[in-house]
Amino acid sequence: MITRELIKTIIGEAINAPSGDNSQPWRFEFRENGVDLYNIERDQTIFNFRRRGDYVAHGALLENIDIIAGHYGFMANSKLFPSGEVGAIAEILFAKDDAPDEELYQAIGKRVTNRKPYSGEMLAAEVKNALLEIGNANELVRLAIVERGEAFDGIVRAASLNDRLILENETIRKFLFSIIRWTEDEERATPGMHVKTLELGAPQQKMFRLFRKRSIARLASLIGFPLVMQKEAAALYGTSGAMLVLSIKGEAPADFIAGGRIFERVWLKATAMGLSLQPLAAMPYLAQRIKAGDRDNVSEVQARDILKAEQDIRDAAHMETGTILMLARIGKGEAPTQKAFKLAPEIHEKMSV
Ligand SMILES: Cc1cc2nc3c(=O)[nH]c(=O)nc-3n(C[C@H](O)[C@H](O)[C@H](O)COP(=O)(O)O)c2cc1C
Repeated sequence: MITRELIKTIIGEAINAPSGDNSQPWRFEFRENGVDLYNIERDQTIFNFRRRGDYVAHGALLENIDIIAGHYGFMANSKLFPSGEVGAIAEILFAKDDAPDEELYQAIGKRVTNRKPYSGEMLAAEVKNALLEIGNANELVRLAIVERGEAFDGIVRAASLNDRLILENETIRKFLFSIIRWTEDEERATPGMHVKTLELGAPQQKMFRLFRKRSIARLASLIGFPLVMQKEAAALYGTSGAMLVLSIKGEAPADFIAGGRIFERVWLKATAMGLSLQPLAAMPYLAQRIKAGDRDNVSEVQARDILKAEQDIRDAAHMETGTILMLARIGKGEAPTQKAFKLAPEIHEKMSV
């Protein structure tokens, strides 16, 4: 039997999981010997296509719960979508176990998105092998590492397209500013991304504040500033040691959750080895939306560029089939200026019906 106190401790540590725009789309209800995980549909953006970003975050959270449970002498058995309702993500039952993974456990509290420049140093062979072993442990998920070289430049350009669209596309600009939190009070009141976690330099910060105004963003767009933003982003991403492309065979919600679990293990292993990581998921998710026939809010040219960017990522990763679950840059970086704030988890008693 596991106590409720211990379940609370496990959940309290597990919520340091990554989530799109730090949306933290989770709440919990106790059940006998466990807890049920529910989605909170906070992230309503065009990037969270079919809630796939949420599912990746749930996968990362479930992996954390399992690793933390291991540290405390338990294992977590998760049954996905137990009732068939889309918002009821998993039923988690704890059972006694004796197989802790202390290396990954210690990395959970240290894992962080690092948007600083990296050193450009390539990954050592043993580092690469360790990541590939974890990333390819499940046959439904595939990890490819794209090292510096020709394909690397293409993938960097593909990722940086998002930084052009931020200024050029009104829906994306509006979305971005809707999730930015300018003060700690704002960040504590509503989940989002604190501006300091973006790691902008002083001149960039000034510009960024100005682009909150639609009229200024439009003017900047007219004089070609989006291309300057893309170039700067490409220079930043180009400081990475390598790019990671994680893909999945299927595309059902459960596949994204399974892939999210592997993604978290890769990130934790990278953290344990002293590496920094930043997800760059915007382009693949926008491309999936466009491929599904939803071209709302993107121009013809933008749709074409987004699809080309996705194809460049697939080519660089030698991906003939499957769906991109995550693109991320990895390398050696100094510690980030600020960590994202995590809300205390909502854990309730089950409502009786
Ligand atoms: C599905 C998903 C997509 C993400 N996409 C991006 C992205 O495109 N760019 C980025 O800088 N961070 C991205 N992130 C990282 C989140 O913004 C980050 O996890 C969140 O702000 C919490 O910060 P933390 O990872 O430091 O805990 C993504 C995370 C997830 C789970």
